[in-house]
Amino acid sequence: MKIYVPIDAAARALGADDVAKTMAAELAKQGVEAQIVRNGSRGMIWLEPLVEVDLDGTRVGFGPFEVEDVADLVAEIVAGLTADSRKHPRALGPVEELDWMKGQQRLTFARVGVIDPVSMDDFIAHGGLNGLKAAIAAGPEKIVAEVMDSGLRGRGGAGFPTAIKWKTVAGAAGPQKYIICNADEGDSGSFADRMLMEGDPLCLIEGMAIAGIAVGATQGYVYIRSEYPDAIRAMNDAIKAARAYGMLGAKMLGSDYAYDMEVRVGAGAYVCGEETSLLNSLEGKRGVVRAKPPIPALEGFLGRPTVVNNVLSLGAVPWILEHGGAAYGALGIGRSKGTIPIQIAGNVKFGGLYEAAFGMKLGDIVMGIGGGTISGRPVKAVQVGGPLGSYIPVANFDVPFGYEELATKEGLLGHAGITVFDDTADMLKLSRFAMEFCAVESCGKCTPCRIGSTRGVETIDRIAEGDLDGIEILKDLCNTMKWGSLCALGGFAPFPVMSALTHFPDDFTNRGTARREAAE
Ligand code: NAI
Ligand code: SF4
Repeated sequence: MKIYVPIDAAARALGADDVAKTMAAELAKQGVEAQIVRNGSRGMIWLEPLVEVDLDGTRVGFGPFEVEDVADLVAEIVAGLTADSRKHPRALGPVEELDWMKGQQRLTFARVGVIDPVSMDDFIAHGGLNGLKAAIAAGPEKIVAEVMDSGLRGRGGAGFPTAIKWKTVAGAAGPQKYIICNADEGDSGSFADRMLMEGDPLCLIEGMAIAGIAVGATQGYVYIRSEYPDAIRAMNDAIKAARAYGMLGAKMLGSDYAYDMEVRVGAGAYVCGEETSLLNSLEGKRGVVRAKPPIPALEGFLGRPTVVNNVLSLGAVPWILEHGGAAYGALGIGRSKGTIPIQIAGNVKFGGLYEAAFGMKLGDIVMGIGGGTISGRPVKAVQVGGPLGSYIPVANFDVPFGYEELATKEGLLGHAGITVFDDTADMLKLSRFAMEFCAVESCGKCTPCRIGSTRGVETIDRIAEGDLDGIEILKDLCNTMKWGSLCALGGFAPFPVMSALTHFPDDFTNRGTARREAAE
């Protein structure tokens, strides 16, 4: 018998390690022969730690599990646990039949939470390597053609077509080319990169190896922030396992293609998620933004042609190669093709990761999947796309989840993280946070961002004290930062501020009125 206790960082933060330890002791005490497997998370964070017992292939769930629940579960196993038993207070029934699981189309996350993340056997038993095998058989041009057909766009936030990036690198001349995975997941409310690396790191390795074949790169790096020690460990263990199996190395899976890769750890500056800063950091330099052009596709790591792709972009590739680009491209809406791992966080009842085809209404995600606020109060707004994403009010909840669709509401898909706020949220304070975040994280290279963000904080403080003349100054400043900044950090910091001003003007105008009147 196998009992699964997640090793995902969120589950560990909620006590999964203690549960696993106590479970091992209790199984020994009651003489039960069972193997404890540390799997990734299924994405239902409110149920973590989610313990699963494998009953002849049916995974029966118990959660949120506590150390105190262990003895009863083991006793029930001894007595003959069945999939439909609801005796245990934490019993949930078969995990695949939970509404949260049934509603999804898990393509990239199909194995996450299901397998032992660093077991090659488990990976292969659940479809691992099928994409890489198909890629080896197809060769570089056909791989790019499949990715083109899939319509896959950069999942890091910018949504640039992945196949066009690969084509540029494939066509560039250089003695060495590189595949770099941007795993510097910095957006607050985003955790999909982390969950994939912790739950199915071999999927990312497979995607990077396929990218290597496609563009002629033989070396790759995964750049992970130091705040992700579990992901770093999982990636390193998976790379070792992949090398031992022959999935990486001089002759991948016995083919004539060579590709190998390493993990590189960044200190965790937000700006190092910007691709040119990341490249500087990777080269051992200070993580400041480089002007583009030249684009990294032509002059990237060490000045050589380089693919820089996000974890989720590369993680989608094995499925595309296995099932064909057309099958992936048949999902989604408009120019947003395939599936998107949506991350739901903040003041929300059911937070977690939910992979679905593009096109769900934002309101259905927040109120249906997320279940509304955990405080029980009405939702005021959601911020989509990290700390630099716009605040979207409930009035715009009918917007479909897609790149262009969100843009019609001045929104930004970003890394598909959604943070929920209830009606007690103070939008002026949240705007101040955006400017303060930009000031703290700015690399300092350009004036609109370096100076503008600090002036932004000061101006919002003036407004908070009732100086309403500051509002026009703030708008002007946002405009300058939006159009004058060198990279997305300074360029997007105005989005939360402007959206808050547009949709929640009262939070700016209704403060300090008494003081203002007294002064007049
Ligand atoms: P960008 O629009 O400048 O570039 C997009 C990508 O396309 C880059 O990799 C660029 O090198 C590539 N590209 C452009 N033209 C090309 C061509 N002709 N051939 C090949 N490649 C080409 O956007 P940028 O600055 O890279 O990213 C901005 C986005 O990053 C924002 O939308 C923001 O949401 C997101 N972001 C994500 C974070 C996260 O934690 N995932 C953190 C911060 C920002
Ligand atoms: Fe650096 Fe900010 Fe300019 Fe980006 S916008 S280059 S982070 S100073």
